This record gives sequence, C-alpha cells and structure tokens, in this order.
Amino acid sequence: MTYSGPELLGGMFYLPNQLTLLEQKHFVKFYLENKNSFIQPVFRSGSKIHLKMFCLGKHWNSLTNKYENSSNQIPNWMIEIINKYCKNLYPTQNLDFDICVINHYVGSDRLGLHRDSAESKETIASGHPVISFSIGASANFLFNEKYLQWNELKNAKQILLNSGDIITFGEKARLCYHGVNKLKISNKNPFSSFLNNGRLNFTFRKY
Ligand code: SIN
Ligand code: MN
Repeated sequence: MTYSGPELLGGMFYLPNQLTLLEQKHFVKFYLENKNSFIQPVFRSGSKIHLKMFCLGKHWNSLTNKYENSSNQIPNWMIEIINKYCKNLYPTQNLDFDICVINHYVGSDRLGLHRDSAESKETIASGHPVISFSIGASANFLFNEKYLQWNELKNAKQILLNSGDIITFGEKARLCYHGVNKLKISNKNPFSSFLNNGRLNFTFRKY
C-alpha cells in the first residue's frame, strides 16, 4: 500500500480509519484477556499517570524511565498488522519492534506532553518510528516539535484520533512532543461496553 494521506510533521504520518473492525476486535479481546495486568504507573515524584498501562516485549518502569526485560511477548499477529499498514511508510528503515506499550484511558484520564525517549540512543538516532494504534473512544491527540508549558498547550497541534486510526512518528518527528488531553465518549463506539467507555492505545517501539 502506498501512503497518500497527510504527513503531520516531517516523519509523522496520520492514517485514519485503517484497522478493520475485526482487527480492532482482536486488540479489544487481547485487552480483556490481560485486563488484570494493567497498572497505574507512578513517577519517582509520587505523582500518578492518569491511565492504566501494560507492556509487552519489555516493561517500561515509570520510576526509572527505563525498560526492563519482560516475559510478555508481542504476539505475531500484532506485528503482521503493523507490516500490513506501515511497511512502506519509511522506505529507508528496517522496521523491527520489540516493545509494545498499551494504555487504557477512561473518564478524565489523560497523558501529558512528553517524548518517547527511553528507547536506545541508536534507535532514536536512526529515526526508527513509533507506531500507534487507537481503539475505542476518540481522543484529542496533541503534538508539537517543541516542548510547551501547560499555559501554552493551546498552541499545540491537535488531531482527533478515532477507533482504527494509526499515527506514526519517525525520522525527524521521532522525538516530537505528544500527549492526550481528552476522551470523547460516544455510545456509537462498538467497544464502549468492553472498554468501560474508554480508549486503548497500542504503541509499538524498537528498543
Ligand atoms: C503514548 O504517547 O504513549 C500514547 C499516546 C496515545 O495514547 O495516543
Ligand atoms: Mn508517547
């Protein structure tokens, strides 16, 4: 598949409405099977992140901002879905994912502006992309090349991510700032009763 949609920043692509309903169902089923392993991460400062998280491949330790080995593997079917939609987006990259961070947001859950920077220096320098799949409730995704203080957030670029949408950030956008500020709850979402009206986000990364 040749990509012809918008490039939000250099190296950041937005692929709306990609995952089929069946693919989305597989992700929801995976969440339901692993629901009890999701935890609310806590920073060293003691403040909590307003979402629940579960990691595959390697575990992200919120106290140290480092990855640890984990016995939870990324299922092959997830990698096949990434290849199906994202293989041709970065022709000079050899796509290879060994980490999946899964976030579950409900109610007023959110994620502050941050960069994905706990992966290896080599991977970040190479511009290997992070691939993000959204499922369930829609959410406002903020992104910006530069960090913004909370009172400047209105200047961030925004996009509403719906169920089945894909965002990728690699190359020049690999270290872009991004976050999630609001869920848009709708009963029209076929997964709302399974996700407590919430949203799932799967980000695939290379360490
Ligand atoms: C993340 O930045 O780790 C997740 C972003 C999202 O939920 O869309
Ligand atoms: Mn992130």
